[in-house]
Amino acid sequence: MLILVAAALLGYLLGSIPFGLVLTRLAGLGDIRQIGSGNIGATNVLRTGNKPLALATLLLDSGKGAVAALVALDLAGRFIGPDMAMTAAVLAAGGAMLGHSFPVWLGFKGGKGVATAIGVLLAVCWPVGLLACLTWLVVAGLFRISSLSALTAIALSPLTGWWFGGPLVAGLCLFIAILVFIRHEANIRRLLKGEEPKIGAGKQAA
Ligand code: G3P
Repeated sequence: MLILVAAALLGYLLGSIPFGLVLTRLAGLGDIRQIGSGNIGATNVLRTGNKPLALATLLLDSGKGAVAALVALDLAGRFIGPDMAMTAAVLAAGGAMLGHSFPVWLGFKGGKGVATAIGVLLAVCWPVGLLACLTWLVVAGLFRISSLSALTAIALSPLTGWWFGGPLVAGLCLFIAILVFIRHEANIRRLLKGEEPKIGAGKQAA
């Protein structure tokens, strides 16, 4: 039981590292929350015009989710056995999503969770993560809108989660989908009005 609580807490703490905010500040670009959509994620970092920084944000935000789930999987596997290891990984994954979306360090105002979701899904059940990546790429190729690509990819994940991972993974995917849709409320409103900016649009977009 203690290991499961520790897994969720570890996930939250890792997930709550706001890499987009830290990297843009270190690069002297100011506060990313004052630019574009105000989000701390890679799409908004791209609006600063700094592509390497956006890529680094994407990789680090995904990586923290993957690391949280994999560390929990490994530690729980050793201490409480393989049966509960997947439960620990799922709790760490959920914790990482909550940490990214509601980080204590930023007054619980965090990011939208897409990169972190991809990271945890790749770690917990890689076919689900891979299909989410591919869906994102296809929709982005067609419409060039980051939020639409993310919402489509995440919306499909409970189905692919059920298919490839069973009820536990599907439950995680459903939790992630609800969280990501809640965090994209403003994007959904803009999408419905046809006002959502395309990927790579300038600083003032969104
Ligand atoms: O991954 C975040 C993306 O879906 C939306 O970002 O900055 O356009 O609100 P943004």
